[in-house]
Amino acid sequence: MSFDLDTIRARFPALGSGVAFLDAPGGTQCPQAVIDAIAGYLRESNANLGGAFGASRRSDELVEQARRTAAGFLNCETEETIFGANMTTLNFALTRAWGRKANAGDEVLVTRLDHDANIAPWLELERDKEIVVKFVDIRDDATLDLDDLERKLSTKTRVVAFPFASNALGTVDDVNRIAKLAHSVPALTWVDAVHYAPHGPIDVIDLQADVLLCSPYKFFGPHLGLAAVRDDVLEEWRPYKVRPAPNEPLGASFETGTLAHELLAGFVAAVDYIGELGWDGIRSHERALGQRFLDGLPDRCALYGPDTMDGRVPTFAFRVEGAAPREVAERLAARDIAVWDGDYYAVEAMSRLGLQPDGAVRAGFVHYNTFEEVDRLLDALAEL
Ligand SMILES: Cc1ncc(COP(=O)(O)O)c(C=O)c1O
Repeated sequence: MSFDLDTIRARFPALGSGVAFLDAPGGTQCPQAVIDAIAGYLRESNANLGGAFGASRRSDELVEQARRTAAGFLNCETEETIFGANMTTLNFALTRAWGRKANAGDEVLVTRLDHDANIAPWLELERDKEIVVKFVDIRDDATLDLDDLERKLSTKTRVVAFPFASNALGTVDDVNRIAKLAHSVPALTWVDAVHYAPHGPIDVIDLQADVLLCSPYKFFGPHLGLAAVRDDVLEEWRPYKVRPAPNEPLGASFETGTLAHELLAGFVAAVDYIGELGWDGIRSHERALGQRFLDGLPDRCALYGPDTMDGRVPTFAFRVEGAAPREVAERLAARDIAVWDGDYYAVEAMSRLGLQPDGAVRAGFVHYNTFEEVDRLLDALAEL
C-alpha cells in the first residue's frame, strides 16, 4: 500500500473529529479494523478457552493467532510471548518472577531516561529482596550517558533495564551497544519498547533483548500489554500461577487468569494494519513531520532533547516562555489541539533536566498526523 495520508486517516474514525491528536505518546487512535475486530469477537466468539463448543474453539484459535501475531511483530517464538493488562502490570509480574531467585546484593541498573514503569518495579524489589538499584545518568542533551553505564556495570550486575526510546524526550537509545555492554558482565537486558513501538520495527533477536515490553494501545491497538522474554530465561523463572492453569506455552504460564480476548482480536488487527502500511512509509513521514516541527518551533519555546531528527522519534518536550505547561496545554485544547503536559511518569528525566514540578508540554507525532496539524500547533504556539 502506498503512503496516502488521506486514505490512511479515513481509516481512523476519531481523526474525522477535527481534533489534532498530538498525544500519541499517551496512546494512539485506532483504525476501524481494530474497532471491528473487538466488536466482532464479542458478537461472534465470546467465550472462555478450552470448551468443547464453537465459540470456545474460536477463542482458542484467536489466542493462538494473537501469539503468532505477537511473535511475528517482535521476531520471537510464540512461546516467548506474554500478554497482560498493560506494560506496568506485566513488568511488576516479570520483575517479581525474576526476583524470586535474586540474592541480596545483586545489582540492577535502571536509567534516568526511563518511564517509572521500568524503575519502580525494581525499587520495590530493592525493598523486599535487598537487591541494589543503581541509576545510569543522562547527559544534558537528553541522551543516555553510556560512560556512566559502563562505570556502573560490575560483576554484580544482573539486569540492565533501559528504554528503547524516551517517552518524554524522544531520544532513541543504542540498544545494541547497551546489550553488548550488559552481556559482557553478563547481565540481562530489560528493554522498555513502549514508546518506540509505533515508530519502527522491533526485532528482539537483532536487538539482543532478553526481556522486552510494549503496549499495543501505543501502536493503534487496544489497551493491553505485551512482553517477549527469551525462552531460556523464562525456563529459569518460576511463574506465579494457579495450579490448574496450563504450563504451556511457556510464556502463557506467566499470564494470570482469563485474557482480554476481545482486545487480543484488536491487537491482531492493529498489527495487520501496520503490516499493510509498512514501516518505510511510516518512518519517512514521521521524520518529515518532526523536521517540520523543529524547523518552525518559535523562539519563545525551549526544546528539551535532541534538536535534529537523528537519534530520536518525533516526540518533543518543550516549555513556552511565560506560561506553565498546563496552561499551554489548556490553551491548545481550546483550539482542538491535544497535547500532554507534566512529567508523563518520566520523573527521573524531568527532574534531572530541572523541569519539575510542572514538567513540560509534550507533542508527539505518529504517521497519521499531517503537516497541517504540525503547522496548527506551531501557529498556536507563536500566538498563545
Ligand atoms: C516508555 C513507557 N513505558 C511504560 C509505560 C507504561 O505503559 P502502560 O500504560 O502499558 O503500563 C509508558 C506509558 O506511557 C511509557 O510511555
